[in-house]
Amino acid sequence: MVQLTLPKNSRMTTGKTWPKPEGANNIRKFQIYRWNPDDGKNPSVDTYWVDMDNCGPMILDALIKIKNEIDPTLTFRRSCREGICGSCAMNIDGINTLACIYGMDEVKGDVKIYPLPHMPVIKDLIPDLTHFYAQHASIMPWLETKTNRPAKEWKQSIGDRKKLDGLYECVMCACCSTSCPSYWWNGDRYLGPAALLHAYRWIIDSRDEATGERLDELEDPFKLYRCHTIMNCAKTCPKGLNPALAIAEIKKMMVERTV
Ligand code: SF4
Ligand code: SF4
Ligand code: FES
Repeated sequence: MVQLTLPKNSRMTTGKTWPKPEGANNIRKFQIYRWNPDDGKNPSVDTYWVDMDNCGPMILDALIKIKNEIDPTLTFRRSCREGICGSCAMNIDGINTLACIYGMDEVKGDVKIYPLPHMPVIKDLIPDLTHFYAQHASIMPWLETKTNRPAKEWKQSIGDRKKLDGLYECVMCACCSTSCPSYWWNGDRYLGPAALLHAYRWIIDSRDEATGERLDELEDPFKLYRCHTIMNCAKTCPKGLNPALAIAEIKKMMVERTV
């Protein structure tokens, strides 16, 4: 379980308790972080009751039901509802995960929902990922080539393509980086597990011709070496990926190129 810490702009106050749905026999309590930058109030935790007999099975279903039927001001990101856009990442019951693929039955007792930890909050469950995306852009997340462009396509053997399995599936949800203690304390300079997983994805792509430059860029006491193999990233990734392993492989390549 990821250690839950409150988002950066937090000093909590008691929130509003919304009425229970009338006539419902199977209700569940949701406690949800609220913060509105425009009302001048401190963050709070609001309490909602959801009729489980009229709600889908995923946490995102309950959030959508609350927004549609109880409180339209509740704010969160979502798009695909299938675990592929990465936008509904949040902290549910102490775990960073995707609300659309996290089942209600995986939570025991009251459902506590916070934004991803240690990030500035834009509103309610929406973290500010500007810096996270800038770090992703900094690792050059594209195929970098020097030879002339082939007439049709850059070819890759089946074996080389297989090396990208476990890397290309990343949906950039930020669950891993925001669960990483090294990223909490040094996120301004440490790239964090998500960006480093992507860096490795391009480093080992057989078609890429900038491996040396990519490794040079990462040869830095903070960008790469702040990973201390705590493994929170691999434990929390909702796609089952292992950023810690990717980081270890980059470190190994760094050593191998000096011997
Ligand atoms: S293994 Fe590295 S990247 Fe992953 S949580 Fe630990 S310190 Fe962070
Ligand atoms: S590695 Fe997993 S947790 Fe990290 S950004 Fe990618 S999908 Fe999300
Ligand atoms: S809505 Fe797209 S991953 Fe959850």
